[in-house]
Amino acid sequence: MGWTWAGTAGRLRHVAGAVRLEPVDERNLEALLSVAAAEAEPGDVMPPVEAPAGWSHARREAFREFHRASFGGLGGPTATQMYAILVGGEVVGMIRMRRCDEPGTVETGMWLGRSARGQGIGPAALRELLNEAAAAGMRLVVAETDPSNLGALSVLQKCGAKLRGANGRVHAEICLDSPPPAF
Ligand SMILES: CC(C)(COP(=O)(O)OP(=O)(O)OC[C@H]1O[C@@H](n2cnc3c(N)ncnc32)[C@H](O)[C@@H]1OP(=O)(O)O)[C@@H](O)C(=O)NCCC(=O)NCCS
Repeated sequence: MGWTWAGTAGRLRHVAGAVRLEPVDERNLEALLSVAAAEAEPGDVMPPVEAPAGWSHARREAFREFHRASFGGLGGPTATQMYAILVGGEVVGMIRMRRCDEPGTVETGMWLGRSARGQGIGPAALRELLNEAAAAGMRLVVAETDPSNLGALSVLQKCGAKLRGANGRVHAEICLDSPPPAF
């Protein structure tokens, strides 16, 4: 039997229900690094570091330290809470929120391994993040991306973001006072 629209929608609902966030800590950090190294570009998952190209030993160590720096969460030194994105118990990517200077506001960003993209996992993970942000007392979630990043723009729009272009970037705002659109 071939795919039908109903079958695809059902599959996406299934994926959405199976997406969970777990704070990044020593228990899931190596799994997160394995997904990043196998299925993502360094530039998509961590800040630039002086190291040989690709997933060199130095870059892997920098990846670990970058994430460990945020183990303290929103109240820690980086004011950032990072979550591993899990589907069916497997780590497939990361989503984070960082406290901004404006009260009640966090900035978000995420990445998924290549094989996890295009299945609705990104919007489901962002919805979970919105719940976490609301539970932490936040009222606004903001994000910034490149106009060419159609995947990121699609995820933000699916989660009810208002988008605005400025200086060659797209700025997104999701207000947590109103409920997000349904799937
Ligand atoms: C951006 C990202 C998180 C989107 O998550 P996702 O789970 O792939 O999101 P969706 O499944 O809703 O797909 C988004 C769109 O990309 C399309 N798409 C299909 N296959 C895809 C693939 N293999 N890779 C990326 N996008 C794909 C989808 O069809 C969808 O289009 P639509 O608007 O018509 O629905 C993910 O692509 C990613 O990790 N990209 C690399 C890192 C990155 O750019 N992060 C954002 C920085 S601001």
